[in-house]
Amino acid sequence: MDTDKKSVDQFLTDVKMNPANIDLNSIVEHIVDEMTKGLNGKPSSLAMIPTYLEIDTDVTVGEKVVVLDAGGTNLRTATVHFDKSGKVQINNFLKQPMPGTGGIQVGSEEFFDSLANLIWPLLKEDVRKIGFCFSYPMEVYPNRDGRLIRWSKEVLAPDVEGEMMGACLKEALREKGLVDAPSLVMLNDTVSTVLTGSSSITERRDWGAYVGFILGTGTNSCYVESNSAIGKANGLNPNHSQVINCESGGLDLDCSGRADVLLCEETEEPESYRFEKMLSGRYFGPLVRKTISLAAEAELISYPVALEIEKLSSFSTRDADDYAHNPSNSRNPLVALLAASGGKRAAETRGGTEACRLWHLVDGLLERAAKLSAANLAAAVLKSSSHNGPLQPACIVIDGTTYYRYYRFAHRVESYLRPYLCFRDKYYEMVQVDDAPLVGAAVAALTNIQ
Ligand code: BGC
Repeated sequence: MDTDKKSVDQFLTDVKMNPANIDLNSIVEHIVDEMTKGLNGKPSSLAMIPTYLEIDTDVTVGEKVVVLDAGGTNLRTATVHFDKSGKVQINNFLKQPMPGTGGIQVGSEEFFDSLANLIWPLLKEDVRKIGFCFSYPMEVYPNRDGRLIRWSKEVLAPDVEGEMMGACLKEALREKGLVDAPSLVMLNDTVSTVLTGSSSITERRDWGAYVGFILGTGTNSCYVESNSAIGKANGLNPNHSQVINCESGGLDLDCSGRADVLLCEETEEPESYRFEKMLSGRYFGPLVRKTISLAAEAELISYPVALEIEKLSSFSTRDADDYAHNPSNSRNPLVALLAASGGKRAAETRGGTEACRLWHLVDGLLERAAKLSAANLAAAVLKSSSHNGPLQPACIVIDGTTYYRYYRFAHRVESYLRPYLCFRDKYYEMVQVDDAPLVGAAVAALTNIQ
């Protein structure tokens, strides 16, 4: 092994962040255990939220619905319908920054008002259903409205916490003069993803299970569970099943490293969503930056370079990941900084080059993110009543720009997931979908509102 990689590996081991030291099986078993506890109302770091939504692929053709997608960065709206050939049609698409992001705090009234402003022009006499995809932890009720438990992804709108999202939106629409309240279904973005995947596969296929996974600004998973396993919800038909939103970003894991701890201390809620903060797009850049500071303390990266990185006005997840994609791109702040400091030449620290070490460092953290994602996916497949053998594989639907953009990420995830599951006689297919939050919200509205 080359010396740079060796030194970075040793450093990552020293700060408890080396992916090679993560035992995949014990993490999967821990996640399955937390899932079971969460479903039965026992203390668990996984909320395991019933959604009251079944996977039903028979969407009504021709009927238009309004969809709203409140994501980690953007707020999007559109009108959606399925045409006679079953193809989804998206019209009147609008996008604006998600209120409460970009470091600007908003109050509850302002928050719902901006949502209502976007959708009320789309609600017409023949368009009376709203599918609202909401990418935050919310408790969903049998009437399919949802109460925001808490914000994740650093959104600053504290007054909205605890509110019934659908009811407040309808109230804001009423204040705009909309007399007849529209029907509304709230759903999480992972749930939207799985609904989009199941409705987009037209050829007949026997799936043994359904799993949804997001790695974008945040991360989360969902899967279809038998009602009989959901001990904490009363009155469910035990012969039916429904999608469970795991809120897996909240997972408590006993393998946080030193940079994870430093990063968490700087977040709005240091104790919550520690798993998400180890891998998702909102946090990866800052995590790399923290790891570089520790690497300077360990004399793996020289102090002047680490100090310059610390001083960069912004160092995004995109910058960190782009460095792994192309370490000679002079537009990348790391490349520019190394060139300016002569870092490409042999560094004074333990031989080798800083450019190379930084690359291995980013690569190591991406590898760890992939292993943790694979653990999350494997647990969801094992916990669902998936069939054994290759004839009825699990349908894993994945969305999130981060997942598809991180350097060699999908390949890395599969390198852990496939051998792990196949060894246990579980098979799966990965399905990629377009516009999942919008399409899934439309599917939910068309299949779950009378
Ligand atoms: C939220 C989840 C969401 C995930 C992906 C997390 O921060 O808590 O509800 O599904 O991000 O967007």
